[in-house]
Amino acid sequence: MSRNARPLLNRRLDGLGTTIFAEMSARAVATGSVNLGQGFPDRDGPAAVARAAADAILAGRGNQYPPGPGIPELRTAIAAHDERFYGLRYNPAEEILVTAGATEAIAAAMLALVEPGDEVIAFEPYYDSYAANIAMAGGVRVPVTLRPPDFRPDIDALARAITDRTRLILLNSPHNPTGSVFTRDELAAIAELAVRHDLLVVTDEVYEHLVYDGEHVPIAQFPGLRERTVSVSSAGKTFAFTGWKIGWVKATPELVTAVKTAKQFLTFVSGGPFQYAIAEALALPDSYFSQLRDELKHQRDVLTTGLRDLGFTVNTPQGTYFATADVGSDGLEFCRTLPERAGVVAIPLAVFYDDKQAARTQVRFAFCKRPEVLTEALTRLAKIF
Ligand SMILES: Cc1ncc(COP(=O)(O)O)c(C=O)c1O
Repeated sequence: MSRNARPLLNRRLDGLGTTIFAEMSARAVATGSVNLGQGFPDRDGPAAVARAAADAILAGRGNQYPPGPGIPELRTAIAAHDERFYGLRYNPAEEILVTAGATEAIAAAMLALVEPGDEVIAFEPYYDSYAANIAMAGGVRVPVTLRPPDFRPDIDALARAITDRTRLILLNSPHNPTGSVFTRDELAAIAELAVRHDLLVVTDEVYEHLVYDGEHVPIAQFPGLRERTVSVSSAGKTFAFTGWKIGWVKATPELVTAVKTAKQFLTFVSGGPFQYAIAEALALPDSYFSQLRDELKHQRDVLTTGLRDLGFTVNTPQGTYFATADVGSDGLEFCRTLPERAGVVAIPLAVFYDDKQAARTQVRFAFCKRPEVLTEALTRLAKIF
């Protein structure tokens, strides 16, 4: 094959599992498996929020290109949300940008802030778009490894990874795929390093409301971080409408302007009517957010208890949609054969690592499914384990 037929991006991503979700979803369909591979809920979010989107469409709100930074109602609602939950203040007029999901926000941030050759430090295992986005910007990814059994960030390893070519730290807490929620002390240490070395931080906090043990602390709260941090979040997980792809960026006007310039030439704008609906969703009472958390916590416990009863060594995740289990053998091989053997789909953790040995026997299961679906998956697994 001509070298030119293998795009640079594919070469840069060699070894990472860019096709694993397509492969596993195909196996799920072919075998009628319970799919605990991909992280999306099997129930939609609140009916009132869905109705707000339908009403917006029928009333002609957002059906034409919305404003580039997002509709003012949504930017105001995002600012109010951050003040309500974290006491963080953003000016909706110039410090908030609405994006096509967190995915576009992260891509635009990398394109805006990373020059070819710049090093970007990220904790591996990485959410799958990070390595691709760093490569698209011509950056060099520098992994700092989260290791089983508990996947805590190694601050000394982070300090050693910083060089004079480091541009930014790409952070994700609550962390997909491990379910780790970085503690206040861990975040303070990361923040201190960012300040000391004058680094930017891009923080992906899409699971901010899905924390079951401990607390979510936005890194922008630490001294010196508000002005050097691009905070990314999204409505997908918080409101269980992952298909709407409404995300956002919060940062200083200078950083938001930089990200907006890249975003403008990716999608320009998106999701007009959904933006109106999410503006309403963000104003839901605290009880909505606590109920969502309680439901997911219950689902987490159903899955982790069930997996433990089957003999797996399970790390209880403090947040997100995901639990990881040590299956005691090669995770990739385990997941490739599991659909045929048991009728269940899971994802090997190794596909999210550059270091293939770091978590070779770990497998990720999603618990953002109804309890009866999780129980069915466990019943199927019990037939072979
Ligand atoms: C860590 C992380 N970041 C970003 C995303 C994507 O968010 P969105 O659907 O808003 O683009 C996901 C979705 O799974 C995720 O797990």
